[in-house]
Amino acid sequence: MEFKNLLIETADGVATLTVNRPQALNALNSEVLTELASAFYQLEYDPAVRVVVLTGAGEKAFVAGADIKEMAAMSSFEGHQFALKGQHCMMAMEKMKTPVIAAVNGFALGGGLELALGCDFIYASEKAKLGFPEVTLGIIPGFGGTQNLARLIGKNRANELIFTGRMIAADKAQAWGIVNEVFAPEELLVKAKETAAAIAGVGPLGVTYAKNAIANGLNMGKEDGFRYEASLFGVLFGTADQKEGMGAFVEKRKAVFTGK
Ligand code: CAA
Repeated sequence: MEFKNLLIETADGVATLTVNRPQALNALNSEVLTELASAFYQLEYDPAVRVVVLTGAGEKAFVAGADIKEMAAMSSFEGHQFALKGQHCMMAMEKMKTPVIAAVNGFALGGGLELALGCDFIYASEKAKLGFPEVTLGIIPGFGGTQNLARLIGKNRANELIFTGRMIAADKAQAWGIVNEVFAPEELLVKAKETAAAIAGVGPLGVTYAKNAIANGLNMGKEDGFRYEASLFGVLFGTADQKEGMGAFVEKRKAVFTGK
């Protein structure tokens, strides 16, 4: 599928997906959300792609939020539908078998921070600014932000960020556990792609099942989570990748994984 607002580049198992609407600081309108959902589906089932790096075009923004100009005239019903559409995108990333790394190169605000939180983890540039300005617009985060942020960093810090609408810098976002690592702007994509390449080089089924165990386990009680983990662990013993990974270790050679 051709995209008007996205760029995709794939090399050595790593797809770089760029939200490309710099004239609106990459704001998420309905069209961008439709394209993102299609892109996630396309990338998940592309055998050439093992990891996705998600970033924003231009110097200034990752994504500056949902499109305020589109939302301004929405009815209550349309607002609800728009939130569901954004949430569908965030859930699509969580359910994808392929890991997605957010490379937050600038503003990640509102729906933009929600997009980053929907990824499996976040790297950020020293220039990044993160926040939920929704209350300054008379609304609340609607693409999963109240849920994902509170689960990630706990209720009190999530409350402070969401109630004030303030932006925080990348170093504070790292100290709060939102961002895994902070890099100089020119290093961000290089480092994100390096980590993506490391993940692309290990057993893809292991990565997929680990993602599945962590994401689903967080919605379960601990004992159910342990049982779920053990089932997935067992399933992997029926795969060629497990035979190859362990065989290569014993034979002191590098494993060549096929994802089968
Ligand atoms: N929606 C639509 N357009 C946006 C936008 C957004 N979220 N953010 C920026 N833009 C547009 C601006 O309107 C401007 O367009 P024009 O040149 O046509 O006027 C262009 O992008 C450049 O933006 P600025 O001139 O404002 O750039 P700046 O450097 O002065 O400020 C900024 C940057 C602080 C990020 C500022 O643009 C801003 O505050 N943006 C809005 C951030 C925001 O409130 N995001 C949350 C949206 S609500 C949401 O996301 C709900 C949800 O949870 C689903």
